[in-house]
Amino acid sequence: MITVIGSLNMDLVVQMNAFPKQGETILGNSFQTVPGGKGANQAVAAARLGSEVAMVGCLGNDHFGETLHAALQQEQIQTNAIVKSTTAPTGIANILIYNNDNRIVVVPGANYDLSISHLEASKELIQKSHLVIIQLEIPKETTAHAIHLCKEAGVPILLNPAPAANFDVQWMDDITYLTPNETECAEIFKEPVEQVLEKYPNKLIVTLGSDGARYFDGSYPIHVPGYMTTVVDTTGAGDTFNGALAYALVEGQSLDEAVYFANIAASLSVEKLGAQGGMPLLGAVYARIAGLEG
Ligand code: RIB
Ligand code: NA
Repeated sequence: MITVIGSLNMDLVVQMNAFPKQGETILGNSFQTVPGGKGANQAVAAARLGSEVAMVGCLGNDHFGETLHAALQQEQIQTNAIVKSTTAPTGIANILIYNNDNRIVVVPGANYDLSISHLEASKELIQKSHLVIIQLEIPKETTAHAIHLCKEAGVPILLNPAPAANFDVQWMDDITYLTPNETECAEIFKEPVEQVLEKYPNKLIVTLGSDGARYFDGSYPIHVPGYMTTVVDTTGAGDTFNGALAYALVEGQSLDEAVYFANIAASLSVEKLGAQGGMPLLGAVYARIAGLEG
């Protein structure tokens, strides 16, 4: 079983033909409200592939909160450990999409009310998990406590350090896998990627978008190739990678296989609009892998 400790947002997605300049008003092409938040996205990615998933998070007492809660249940994700803030609204992300590019503003709202005591109340769930996934759209002290609880119980942690500003390098010792993209990696370690990779063999996996991912296996630098595809919306590609990586690792795949599998899952996710829109079922991932090997 995988437990995800993290954010839930309602994504307010606008597709447009150009980004507005400062002080400019332009017309967009379409507007959609779709479930998002890095935590929920990673939970859905793993659940679609067949993992048993539980989510720990905080919603507002509002319509968006109800919709997000129902969406997780529809994906067979356990929602007992999702709490409700009495003061803050459900988190939102304002997402502008133009070409292969996006610009996102997140307002955490209730996500920042996820507290240490909420984690304490979900202690048993965390302790019995095979893997815990964490991102950084929740308060820093809550993340620190989540890491502490996992460490105490010997539960492996997959930490996706986004946004990187909420990461503490001291956590490295207690984390099993860290999955920054190149920008996040630079922001956290302030060193060239190759150099940092060597310091954290089989732990630090740097994602490179359609170029795949890199890690160091203890002897050699490993570059796991990505898969080039037609992009509709890259929002949530990283989340799909993380959810799929978690699924594959819990299934007992080697790190190399799991990273490859996660890249393929992420490539499928960018072909549809919305963070969760294109997240694949298990069969679709294996079909693409078979196509590549065939
Ligand atoms: O990683 C993509 C996610 O980041 C979006 O769904 C948005 O909610 C933000 O949290
Ligand atoms: Na998508």
